[in-house]
Amino acid sequence: MAQTQSLQFAELPHPAPVTAEQRAALLRNPGFGRVFTDHMVTVRYHESQGWHDAKIEPRGPIPMDPAAAVLHYAQEIFEGLKAYRTANGGATLFRPEENARRFQQSAERLAMPVLPEPVFLEAVDKLVSIDRDWIPDGDGSLYIRPFMFANETFLGVKPSSEYLFIVIASSVGAYFKTDAPAVSVWVSPDYTRAAPGGTGAAKCGGNYAASLVAQAEATKHGCDQVVFLDAVERRWIEELGGMNIFFVFDDGSMSTPPLGGTILPGITRASLLTLARDKGVSVREERYSIQQWKADAASGRLREAFACGTAAVVTPIGTVRSQDGEFRIGNGGSGAKTEELKAALVGIQRGQAADPHGWIHKVF
Ligand code: PLP
Ligand code: COI
Repeated sequence: MAQTQSLQFAELPHPAPVTAEQRAALLRNPGFGRVFTDHMVTVRYHESQGWHDAKIEPRGPIPMDPAAAVLHYAQEIFEGLKAYRTANGGATLFRPEENARRFQQSAERLAMPVLPEPVFLEAVDKLVSIDRDWIPDGDGSLYIRPFMFANETFLGVKPSSEYLFIVIASSVGAYFKTDAPAVSVWVSPDYTRAAPGGTGAAKCGGNYAASLVAQAEATKHGCDQVVFLDAVERRWIEELGGMNIFFVFDDGSMSTPPLGGTILPGITRASLLTLARDKGVSVREERYSIQQWKADAASGRLREAFACGTAAVVTPIGTVRSQDGEFRIGNGGSGAKTEELKAALVGIQRGQAADPHGWIHKVF
C-alpha cells in the first residue's frame, strides 16, 4: 500500500512528570541507559492500514500478547543517536537522516515495513522537544533509541502483519565506566558476530543477543569489549560488539575494515572517514588481520587503535588480549591522531566547531 510520508502526532503530555529536583538528582551521574525521560513516541503499523496512530505520550509499559511474534522470532530493529544541548540553550542532533535511512535498510533485511524518513525524524524531534529538560549539560547527552518490533499475535514463522515503532530517550554520560585512558579488547576465539549473507549490516536485536556470550567472555578476561573476527577465515578484524574500529599507522595513514555486509555501517565511522580525509589523512577501507595487528603493534608500525560509535564516541584501545596472550598499542593509552579526530567530531556534534558538511540538525 502507498506509504504516508508524514503523520499527525497526537500529543498526550505526562500528567505527573518527574519533578525538577528528582530530575536534577538523576542527571548528576546518569551512567548509560538507566535514566529515562517522561515521554515516548509510538506509531503503529498494520498491513491493511499502513502507518497510523502516531502519539507522543507518557513513557510506560506496553501491553503485549504472549504470542506477539517478536517474543518468538526476534523480528526487531533499533537505532541509536544523540541530542546535544547547545550553548544558546537549543538542542541538536547529529546526522539523524542517516539513522532514518539505516533504520529503513535494517527493516528491509528483517522483512519489516519501511518507516518513511519524515516520520522517523519528526518522532525524534518531538521527543527531544517535549523532554528537553532531560538533556544533560556538560559532557552528557540525550541518547535516543528508536525501535520497531513485530506485534502480530501469531506463532507461524512469517513476516508479521503488525508492528509497533517506539522512540524512547535516556540521559547519558560516558558509555565505558572505566577511568583508564584507553579500553581493553578481547579477541573472541569461538564466536563470530555475523556471516556473509546474515544480518551483520542490520541493526537488529538478534545481533546483540548473539554477541552477549562473547562479551561476557571478554569481561571474564578483564576486557571492556569483545572484538570479532570474520566468520569465514577467522582472521580479519571486523568490529567490536557495539562499535566500529580504526587503526593508525606510523606513516600517518589510517585504516578501517571495509563494509561488506557483515559489519554495521556506522555513522560515526563514515563521519570520521570524511573528517580524516578533510585533514589530508590517507584512510584505507581494507581488511586487516589479527596476526598483522599483533606484528604491527610489536614493530611500532601500528601507533594507535580506537573504537567509534554513537555510544562510545571515539574511545582509544590500549590493550588487546586473546587466548595467545596480550599486546599493547603504543603506550597503552590514547594517541595524538585519536584525540585529534575525536576533538574534530565532538566539536561539530556539540556546535563548538564549524559544520562544513551540514551534519547538524537543529531541533529547536
Ligand atoms: N557497530 C555496532 C555493532 C554498533 O552497535 C554500533 C552502534 O550503533 C556501531 C558499530 C557504530 O555505529 P554508529 O556510529 O552509527 O553509532
Ligand atoms: C550505539 O552506539 O548506539 C549502540 O547501539 C551501541 C550499543 C553498545 C549501545
